[in-house]
Formats: sequence, structure tokens, C-alpha cells
Amino acid sequence: MLYRRMPIEVESPEQIGYDSIRNNLSESSYTDARFGMIPGVPVAGSPSMPGGVAVPGGVPISGGVPVPGGAAVPSDLPLDQLLLCYGDHIGHEGLRQLIVEGMVLTKDNVLLTMGAAGALYIIATTLLEKDDELVVVRPNYSTNLETPRAIGAKLQYIDLVFEEKFELDIEKVKAAITPRTKYISVTHPHNPTGACLSDEQLRQLAALAEAHDCWLLVDETYRDMVFGAQLPLAATYSPKVISVSSLSKSYGLPGLRTGWVVTQDRPLLEAFLAAKEQIHICGPVLEEELAFRYFQKKDVYFPGIRDDIRRKFDIVKNWMAKQDVFEWVEPKGGAVCFPRLRRPDSVDLDQFYKILLEKYSTYVGPGHWFEMPRHYMRIGFGWPAPEALQEGLDALIKSSREACR
Ligand SMILES: Cc1ncc(COP(=O)(O)O)c(C=O)c1O
Repeated sequence: MLYRRMPIEVESPEQIGYDSIRNNLSESSYTDARFGMIPGVPVAGSPSMPGGVAVPGGVPISGGVPVPGGAAVPSDLPLDQLLLCYGDHIGHEGLRQLIVEGMVLTKDNVLLTMGAAGALYIIATTLLEKDDELVVVRPNYSTNLETPRAIGAKLQYIDLVFEEKFELDIEKVKAAITPRTKYISVTHPHNPTGACLSDEQLRQLAALAEAHDCWLLVDETYRDMVFGAQLPLAATYSPKVISVSSLSKSYGLPGLRTGWVVTQDRPLLEAFLAAKEQIHICGPVLEEELAFRYFQKKDVYFPGIRDDIRRKFDIVKNWMAKQDVFEWVEPKGGAVCFPRLRRPDSVDLDQFYKILLEKYSTYVGPGHWFEMPRHYMRIGFGWPAPEALQEGLDALIKSSREACR
């Protein structure tokens, strides 16, 4: 779709700056309230809620009041002072800055979105029209397949195969590109297999996108969770690369719905911004401020998260080594793996999943969630507590025995 930015959004007071207007008669809502006005929100320096109405003319200009989206907001300022106005449409400036810190990119290459899912929706609807083509890896996180289908695009699948260790064959990608290809869509680390791309593969994919004048979408929502050395942010490889990520997976913050898209191509980012404005104007200022505060400290928190995931991964590895009911391709990153039953014909799969849930209260992602046969299943090892993980893994073996034909 051809998204265009609308004057009412481009010229909105939040975009030109609340503090540059003394008499703002352009708004269509009641005066913006502060977070501290919401019942139950603790207010700094006060044991109870102030009883009054929202501060009239809530322009965040004086008295050190936090400016939503403002890079200069010290993270120790009381959150209750946050003004719940429309925020910067492109997203919290401080957070955008942190996302590309130390890279050749700047905050102006980053658009915040409602999770990575929001970014993927914006990208697909911006780049695709009916009958356009995309080359897309399968299995995949469903949105990467379903939104292009909803648009009526033609999907050229690159099937990742167990026997090939779920590795991406670049030659197959090359062969699938046609003049109608709008983008190539890959996921790294991959959901549901945990397979990873190498630096060389990313380079080759970026070169293909350049040569064929199409885009390369890298859904790198699990990027921070690789077990080996981390690759550079995908959008740094080429102006033809679009990278997508979020706080959901590596940091356990899916409820903040804070994701982003990064590209060197500014007109493209502008089209994505136009789409975002037409969907929901801007992101939620409270969540973006929380995400910003967390992101400032992520290097403090993340080593603990990474170690915890490694410990849980070891539980899965030990379990896998001690049984012969399942086989797998060991993941190289992420928090999921995609094993399969070795002898699917000997197991009644409906019974298997029924027993697993009803008798052992254990739930996994069956293959059909990923358009794969049901004897494949995604096991998420990052989320559960170690005891639940171990108990669930043991339940898989018991259920397979009890569902034996
Ligand atoms: C590969 C991938 N991309 C994107 C998403 C969407 O994540 P969110 O919208 O929570 O950031 C998911 C969620 O499972 C995912 O696995």
C-alpha cells in the first residue's frame, strides 16, 4: 500500500513540539493528564493520590517535568509526573538512540512499533500489493506468512529441512527471486528451530537484495539470544536491509509491546511512519518510557537472563541425550527448539497431545502452529522455571509411551 503522511500528523503539536506553542488551540481532546492522576499509581513524596483534576494546559515545559519521548528525561524523575499526551510519532527519542548506540546508524533510522509484530505488519502492508512476490522462509513465526497472504501476495517458500539442520540454502533463495519479488524474509535466530545465520550468509542475502533491487527483511527479534558471537544489527549490512526486533523475547517484556524497525533508507522509514500514524498515531508514552528506563540498564540485567537461559538449555540437552523417543537439531540461539518424534507412526498424535495436557498439564507448540507435521513440536525452554521444564520434558516421554499405537 502507498502510505502517505497526513498533514494533521506531520504538523501535529507533538511533532512540532508542545513547548514551541504558548496557546495550543489545535487539540481535539481534554487536557492531558499525568500518570500520577490514575487511581492507585503511587505519587512520589505523597502517601496518597492527589484528589484534583489534571493540570490544565499540561505542557511539559517547566519545572523539570518529563517530556514524553524526550532524550533528556533523567530516568530517576518520578514516573507519576509523566504526561499521558500523544508522544513523538516516530517513538521515544532516548530509546531510539539506545537501540543504535555505538553503530553507524542514528536514532533517525529507528521507528518504534507495537512489538515486532506491529513492525512486521507495517512492513508487509507497505511493501506488498496483491500479486507481488516475496521469498520467505518456512516454517516461520506465523505473521511473517499470514499478513502477506492476507494482502494477496504470492509467497515463494524456502523450506527449512530437518535433515539439512534447518540451515538456509542461499542458492534456493537466489533461485526463488523474480522481477516481482518485493522482499526476502528471513528470521535470525529462527523461530521455531533456533537455527542461526552466519555473517557470510547475511552478507550474501544483502547482496542478493541489492542485485535484485528488493528488500531483505531480517526478523531478529531473538538477536540478543544467540549462544555464540552476536552478528551486527542486520540493517547495518546494507541500505536494502530492514531489521526488526523488540523487547519481548530476550528481556521477558512482551507486555510493554515495544518493538522497532531499523533501516538506513529514510524514505522507506517515512513510509513506515505514515503507516504507523494511520494505525495508531504514536506508541504508548508510558510503555515507551518504561522500555527506555529498562533499556538503559539492560547490560546489568541481561547477563543474568542469558545465564538462566543457558542453564535451562543444558536441562534440555541432558534430557535429549538420555532418551531415544525424540530427535532434534540443536538450536544455536533463541529460547526454543523444534524436535520431532523419531517414530511418528507408532504414536497416536491426538492422544499424545491430549494426555500431555490433560494428564500431565504440559503444553508445547505442536507442528501445525508452524505449518509442519504434528510430530514436530516447539519446546520453549526460556520461559518455564527449571523444575517445570524438567517435569514437562519427562511428561513428553510418558505421553508418547501412553499414546503408543
Ligand atoms: C520471530 C518473531 N518475530 C516477531 C514476534 C512478535 O513479537 P513481539 O510482537 O512480541 O515483539 C515473535 C513472537 O513470537 C517472533 O517469534
